[in-house]
Parts: sequence; structure tokens; C-alpha cells
Amino acid sequence: MKIVVIGGTGLIGSKLVTKLREHGHDAVAASPNSGVNTITGEGLAEALRGASVVVDVSNSPSFEDAAVLTFFETSTRNLLAAEAKAGVRHHVALSVVGTERLTESGYFRAKIAQEKLIKGSSIPYSIVHATQFFEFVKSIAAAATDGNTVRLAPVLIQPMAADDVASAVEMIAVGKPENDTVEVAGPEQFRLDELIRQGLSEQNDPREVVADPDARYFGAKLTERTLVPGDDARLGETRFVDWLGHVVPQK
Ligand SMILES: NC(=O)c1ccc[n+]([C@@H]2O[C@H](COP(=O)([O-])OP(=O)(O)OC[C@H]3O[C@@H](n4cnc5c(N)ncnc54)[C@H](OP(=O)(O)O)[C@@H]3O)[C@@H](O)[C@H]2O)c1
Repeated sequence: MKIVVIGGTGLIGSKLVTKLREHGHDAVAASPNSGVNTITGEGLAEALRGASVVVDVSNSPSFEDAAVLTFFETSTRNLLAAEAKAGVRHHVALSVVGTERLTESGYFRAKIAQEKLIKGSSIPYSIVHATQFFEFVKSIAAAATDGNTVRLAPVLIQPMAADDVASAVEMIAVGKPENDTVEVAGPEQFRLDELIRQGLSEQNDPREVVADPDARYFGAKLTERTLVPGDDARLGETRFVDWLGHVVPQK
């Protein structure tokens, strides 16, 4: 089966392409680095020729409010139009658990816009909502840093390994379209401040992590369960402590 992975050179995309190829699929890694650009349309029609499934695991180069909204709206519109022309039968997109609860954040408003376009299109789809990747701990800390202090709300979070995200996306991509949103998450819950404190200390990062109930997460106020999935979430196996012991975090 020909499966085009938009963002196939990224963190999740590169793992997904490897897994699909290992399982005998004709997986194409499509991104600006490989001559396929969903914003300009460059290379898109050729990449999609003969494809049954398109998986969108791309991300915006800028997280600035207007830029990220333009990225996901333009990219998704161009992609869905090209898929309709190419006869693609399943559009899979990766988004984030709790997206619909994070409307105060420009990034999440852009993900909501992406999901709305997918749900309104004629292409059968599956939207995968994943929790925060373990690899994202450093970026969460960076966004919450003021001087030498990292301020985070002590709310629940159920993060997962990028490798488990890629496995879950693969399983959904090779299956029937859900025409719905599926949640995937890690095996354990943490307090957000504890998770980041543990991740930073493992890297000998000297910043102090402070629990602050009013601290915002990428611009959004969090409540106890904003970031955690419902009871039906499919769970990855990798535990944070094991991942810390084996992997050098990438971001
Ligand atoms: N971070 C988290 O914890 C988290 C949690 C749940 C869901 N997600 C979602 O997961 C998705 C993937 O995240 P990631 O961290 O794997 O991304 P990433 O490593 O930043 O990779 C982004 C990919 O997008 C590609 N891209 C950028 N502009 C493009 C364009 N104009 N046309 C086609 N491709 C383009 C990049 O290609 P080049 O390499 O060629 O530039 C790259 O392959 C995102 O949509 C994000 O919302 C993230």
C-alpha cells in the first residue's frame, strides 16, 4: 500500500516511515527537504499519485499565533484538495489530546482549524490525539522559563514516547478510517511540574521548577484534567523512567 507521510522527516514522521517500510508498505517521506511542500504545493501532486493513505505529521516552522494558523489552514486545504484529485481513501492527522480545551493558545486554535477542515472534507479520515511526547519536555520547559525559574501548573499529564506515538499512528493508518478522533497516551500520569523537574534534573539542567497554579501552558490556563485523555485512550508501553535511561532527548 502506498502511504505518503507529510512531515516524514520530522520526529514522528521519520519513525513512522521506518515502521511502515519494515512492515512492507511503500512509505514516502514527503517534506520540503524531499521536495514536497504543502504550503506552496510544490511536488504534492506527484507525491500523492497512486497513494491510498496520507498521514499528516507535519508541524509549523513558527509557533507565532498568526503564522501557525496560516500554516495549518493553508497546508491542510492544499493537502485535502490534492488528495481528492489523487483519489486518496484515508487522511490521517496527528493532533494533541485536549486540543479542544486549549482555545486560549494560538497553537491549539490552529490545530482546531486543521481538524475542522479535515472533518468538513470529503476524504474519510482518522484524527489521532496524542499526549505530549517525552521528547517535548525540554520545549515545555523552555516555553515556561523566566530567568532561572520554570513555572508550571501542577496539573495531570500522561506523556508518551515518540516511538509509541509512531506505532499508534501506523496502526491507525493501515486500518479503516475511523471518521472520528482516537486518543493515545502514555502508561502513567504525572504532575506537570514533577515531570519537567525530573526530566531537567536527569540532564543536569540547573533551572528550578516551581509549581504555580496560574502558570500558562503555551498561552492557555490549565485545569486538573485539561491535558489528560478519556478512559478509552490506547496506551503506549514505554515508561518515562525507562525512556530517560535509554534515549538522549532530541528537543
Ligand atoms: N510535541 C508534542 O508533544 C505533540 C503531542 C501530540 C501531537 N503533536 C503533533 O505532532 C505533529 C508532529 O510533530 P513533530 O514534533 O514530529 O514535528 P517535527 O519534528 O517538528 O517535524 C515537522 C515536519 O513538518 C515538515 N514540514 C514543515 N513545513 C512543511 C511544509 N510546508 N510542507 C510539508 N512538510 C512540512 C518538516 O519538514 P522538513 O524537515 O523538510 O522541514 C518536518 O518533517 C504536530 O502536528 C504536532 O501538533 C505533538
